[in-house]
Amino acid sequence: MNKWDERYAQEGYLYGIEPNDFLKENFHKIPKGKVLFLAEGEGRNAVFLARQGYEVTAMDSSAVAMEKADRLAQKNNIFITTIVTSLEDFDPGTEQWDGIVSFFCHLPPALRKNVHAGIVQALKKGGVFLAEAYTPEQLKYKTGGPPMKELLVDLPMLKSELHGLRFVHALETVREVHEGKLHFGKGAVVQIIAVKK
Ligand SMILES: C[S@@+](CC[C@H](N)C(=O)[O-])C[C@H]1O[C@@H](n2cnc3c(N)ncnc32)[C@H](O)[C@@H]1O
Repeated sequence: MNKWDERYAQEGYLYGIEPNDFLKENFHKIPKGKVLFLAEGEGRNAVFLARQGYEVTAMDSSAVAMEKADRLAQKNNIFITTIVTSLEDFDPGTEQWDGIVSFFCHLPPALRKNVHAGIVQALKKGGVFLAEAYTPEQLKYKTGGPPMKELLVDLPMLKSELHGLRFVHALETVREVHEGKLHFGKGAVVQIIAVKK
């Protein structure tokens, strides 16, 4: 069992079953079709999008989380494809996805850069990458996210690593994040919506 499996093994949904606020407000900017969720955890966002009529695939390295995502989908009478694999090994393919989504996916820099290059390659032309994550400023709020600066991301990093996408929303902001037990208050986040050219 990895660290995340242990966390997810407890009763209930660690990040809740409601979708992320930024996704709820902006999902309609993703073209209808096939959407991939990276490091999706227990499925709150993937299930929400599947309920809006998208064809959803979710991946995460935690088998416990993906099992809970399947159960959440069944409870909502919808289907999502779940894949248990690490981003180190996962190949999202080439021009396959109408949308790719990631929330609070905090990776070591070398892996993060590879994943970002893979996202650009894997989106269809006109496909959308939608993401939110904590910035280094979050270290002073202590309301969620990893306490290591190197795992946090800011806008300049995203813009340089996602070369090939056109940013239609790019914002660093401080907002109230109330998404389960581990995201619990005012937090410094970066939000992006970017379209494959
Ligand atoms: C902060 S949680 C966010 C979960 C989900 N995106 C959400 O917002 O509800 C981070 C997730 O990243 C996953 N994760 C961390 N490192 C990973 C990796 N190398 N490959 C795949 N998933 C990973 C963890 O298992 C965990 O589910």
